[in-house]
Amino acid sequence: MSKFGIGGAHPGGITLTKKIFEPEKINSTTHILDVGCGTGQTAAFLSSQYGAKVTGLDVNPIMIEKAKERMTKHRLPVKIIQASIEQCPLQESSFDFILSESVLLFVDKPKALREVFRLLKIGGKLIANELTLRKQLPTANQEEIKQFYGINTLLTEKDWAELFLQSGFKNLMIRNETNSINQVQSLPEIQFSDTIEPELYGVFYQHLMIMAKYQQTFDYGIFSCTK
Ligand SMILES: C[S@@+](CC[C@H](N)C(=O)[O-])C[C@H]1O[C@@H](n2cnc3c(N)ncnc32)[C@H](O)[C@@H]1O
Repeated sequence: MSKFGIGGAHPGGITLTKKIFEPEKINSTTHILDVGCGTGQTAAFLSSQYGAKVTGLDVNPIMIEKAKERMTKHRLPVKIIQASIEQCPLQESSFDFILSESVLLFVDKPKALREVFRLLKIGGKLIANELTLRKQLPTANQEEIKQFYGINTLLTEKDWAELFLQSGFKNLMIRNETNSINQVQSLPEIQFSDTIEPELYGVFYQHLMIMAKYQQTFDYGIFSCTK
């Protein structure tokens, strides 16, 4: 995905991101961390729309390079940092909002949530837009998905909710705008790398096949909770 430079790589894309932030009180003194910022589309939006102090963090060097290029091109003062949310070098109690758009799914969830909790200010808010399973899947199907994406666990909405509460968060609210992962999609943005290994087109095709195969099973939840 980093070689294809897909921006807005989360359910609902940037259109849903904008909608999610509409009711939030954000101004030029608000500190926001976009965990797994990818190519930086959301981080750039939060900086240009609200003048907020935005940091984007991602573990992937190609994503980091593309996010930095974006901020330079649009002259946005967004800090872009290469690190893992499972253990990151940022100071505790630094952020009013932490955002995860399709990122917690791919990491050691309890470990990452401990870091998110540490980094939030008291009363700060985590907003996570993450894939959920509508129902439990047979083991063989779960394995197919986990192996392809390198995921440890696939969670239902209820499992996610329990995880946030177990990690110490409170005031948990869950929204799901459409009941379908395939709706409210904006066209993804593409920022190709100069060289793309031919086998990556096959991997991308497999990804599309898995999304199609499990479209009745995959859903998403927008979870918000506070420290
Ligand atoms: C599905 S993409 C979503 C990217 C971006 N949030 C968006 O919506 O376009 C997942 C992102 O999480 C990043 N990621 C995966 N593991 C991570 C980790 N341990 N720490 C930080 N970022 C991570 C990947 O590099 C990738 O950019």
